[in-house]
Amino acid sequence: MNDAPILSGINTVADVDSASDFEKKHLPHIACVRDGDRVAVTVIVGHLVSHPNQPDHFIQWIEVHAAGTPVARFDASAVAVDPILTCVLNIDAGTEIAAMENCNLHGAWLATAVAP
Ligand SMILES: [Fe+2]
Repeated sequence: MNDAPILSGINTVADVDSASDFEKKHLPHIACVRDGDRVAVTVIVGHLVSHPNQPDHFIQWIEVHAAGTPVARFDASAVAVDPILTCVLNIDAGTEIAAMENCNLHGAWLATAVAP
């Protein structure tokens, strides 16, 4: 049984190094690799601590926004899907990238990064 709180709103983590395992399970991890004009953006949920992937507790979706504009979305099944999204964006260095995910029990979680 999961005893973590059910959260509302959009959750963020100010300091990943001091985050709890509960926070680490949910906080999207953003990795960016530039190749010329393009940036490959990979978002992983459960990068530091694995998130459950069961019919009663799973990551429902992941979204990527670039400079405030939605650019990619992944709707996940509760079975046999790792909560990972990779997309390739044609964006300038310095563009803010936001990744948000939604856990069916623990709500929305947001992380940001800056494009290299
Ligand atoms: Fe969760």
